[in-house]
Amino acid sequence: MRRGSGFGKVILFGEHFVVHGVPGIVSAIDSTADAEVRRTGKGITIKDRRKGAKCYAEEKKLQQLESIERILEAMEIDPKTVSLNISLGGNLPGFSGLGASAASSVAIARAIAGEFGKDLSDERINEIAYEAEKAYAGTPSGIDNTAATYGGLLWFRKNMEEGPNTIERISIRRPVEIIIGNTGIVANTKEMVAGVATRKKSNPRKYDPLFKNAEDLAFSGRKALEEFDMMQVGTLMNENHRLLQEIGVSCKELDFLVNLARKEGSFGAKVTGGGGGGCMTALTPTKKLQDKVAKAIEDAGFEVLRTKIGVEKI
Ligand code: MEV
Repeated sequence: MRRGSGFGKVILFGEHFVVHGVPGIVSAIDSTADAEVRRTGKGITIKDRRKGAKCYAEEKKLQQLESIERILEAMEIDPKTVSLNISLGGNLPGFSGLGASAASSVAIARAIAGEFGKDLSDERINEIAYEAEKAYAGTPSGIDNTAATYGGLLWFRKNMEEGPNTIERISIRRPVEIIIGNTGIVANTKEMVAGVATRKKSNPRKYDPLFKNAEDLAFSGRKALEEFDMMQVGTLMNENHRLLQEIGVSCKELDFLVNLARKEGSFGAKVTGGGGGGCMTALTPTKKLQDKVAKAIEDAGFEVLRTKIGVEKI
């Protein structure tokens, strides 16, 4: 039996826009998906013990199986002949928007590699997890699997031609408290990504300037993070949320949580991940503010994760 892990993530700037080559900023969070893999049984069996995974797993079962077949194929293992028992756990909840699929793909890829005696670099694991992400996101950017593989606070830009993506570490003065609020709605990332691509294609007059704004925001966001200007980071996150509303990936539950977090004093709040449900995040740079915003969201009946961005060892 072999084990593997992958980090969850929060996107601070640029979800959806990154799919089309705009830079994004992502931070791994201190929660992981963990996989245990055994070569036993008949065919591929998956036991998903992750919190929140009941509903998540139901909705995503087929995508999950396809992702595992993709992992095997990328490792040149025939999925039809293999006997694998996969058990998924860890403290990363199976909420949409936290990179749960990418984290599990990285965890499973690492565990399968171990079980088959393959010594794979992080770079190769990341490439394999990207193949797996196609099952969940259709045409993913690669930002989620990159954060899940390497951890840290990262600048990410998809290479739209042949060649490697741009991945750079961003350093900040100290880790910063955030909250992640879950609408409880399981979203289909593949549909959300495809919807944006269709609308962008059919309405370039509206979408081209929004994509240019998103690109400017990512650069300003990086500068504000590096200068540790959290007020500015929050303001830019608010602006990013407006762009996400414009491209049609927010929803009334996400807007409700974003507005509540702002009302409670968060420096900025936005959708994080694919939207259409799933999660939002709010910048709350002290423990006290984090608790205040988290409590307001919990009191409104929603689940909250209290975590930090920019933690060095993650
Ligand atoms: C999902 O966490 C982020 C998206 O931008 C999809 C992707 O980049 O692959 C919506």
